[in-house]
Amino acid sequence: MKILVTGGAGYIGSVTVEMLVGTGAEVVVLDDLSLGHRAAVHPAAVLEVCSLAERPAVDEVLARHRPDAVMHFAARSQVGESMRAPFLYVGDNVRAGLNLIESMVEHGVSRFILSSTAALFGEPSTIPIAEDERIVPGSPYGESKHLLERILEWTAKIHGLRYAALRYFNAAGASPERGEHHDPETHLIPLVLQVALGQREAITVFGDDYPTHDGTCVRDYIHVMDLAQAHILALGALDQGSRVYNLGNGQGFSVMEVIETARVITGHAIPQVMGRRRPGDPAALTADSRKIKAELGWDPRFAALPAIVESAWRWHRAHPRGYAS
Ligand SMILES: NC(=O)c1ccc[n+]([C@@H]2O[C@H](COP(=O)([O-])OP(=O)(O)OC[C@H]3O[C@@H](n4cnc5c(N)ncnc54)[C@H](O)[C@@H]3O)[C@@H](O)[C@H]2O)c1
Repeated sequence: MKILVTGGAGYIGSVTVEMLVGTGAEVVVLDDLSLGHRAAVHPAAVLEVCSLAERPAVDEVLARHRPDAVMHFAARSQVGESMRAPFLYVGDNVRAGLNLIESMVEHGVSRFILSSTAALFGEPSTIPIAEDERIVPGSPYGESKHLLERILEWTAKIHGLRYAALRYFNAAGASPERGEHHDPETHLIPLVLQVALGQREAITVFGDDYPTHDGTCVRDYIHVMDLAQAHILALGALDQGSRVYNLGNGQGFSVMEVIETARVITGHAIPQVMGRRRPGDPAALTADSRKIKAELGWDPRFAALPAIVESAWRWHRAHPRGYAS
């Protein structure tokens, strides 16, 4: 099977490409390298440096490669930035997705997997969050993914597209070869590890007065290789119909638990500074992933927090400047 992976030079896309190559799939990466890294692309994959904003270029790549399926990771994905630049997010993410989906319809490509997000559920009514939770995005970023899910629903109805929308919570960890390198970094685990590497003086904890067991926010961390495995399972199930899944560990970990775990694993004191709550940060966000477990037999292998942090630490220690190392 030939799979086109947009954003395959980014964090989650590059690990998924690595695992797809491991299954024997033929992989084409479409990435404009605006946020990703050439060195992250598996050498067995073909890299097409191309922006999804350029419809003729997307058409050309699809016409030349004729993939059987598309996994769409490419997007801007910083919630905070989207609150400052909403049109950039709703505009770029939706336009890029539309160009891709329209081009797929024109080229007869009928299988699609979307990287969706927990940001669809701004302030959920029930924790852990199941697929039928009301969608009220808390940011233009979440809204852009919601609009893409709606576009997919219509494309499925009208053009027979088979799709899976995988709404992930916080991707974390690394494969032995590939890890997380965002610039700027906004995710907790790499930021904490930057302190252990001496690249940052301390980690700021935004609020310790939340109604959680230790007062700090609780989030659901899912290992990037478990996430990649879910994409592979979802792709295999598309012939039985389109589907939507929430993907997380199910168990949340607080900011303090992440810092404590990193202290144990790195042997570094990791000083912390107590900051104020950030507006819009809910106390706890965890996924109810029973549906994908029951329907696809998805079984996360790295659910324990130490396993997640340890894999990230191994990668960051070996690549202290990320892909620039
Ligand atoms: N990281 C997370 O915790 C998380 C959680 C939920 C959902 N997601 C979603 O997963 C996907 C991947 O996230 P990530 O952390 O790997 O992001 P990333 O920034 O590491 O990778 C995104 C990749 O897409 C490429 N790209 C961006 N815009 C493009 C365009 N217009 N044309 C071509 N390529 C383009 C970038 O160069 C980069 O390589 C995103 O869609 C994100 O919204 C991520």
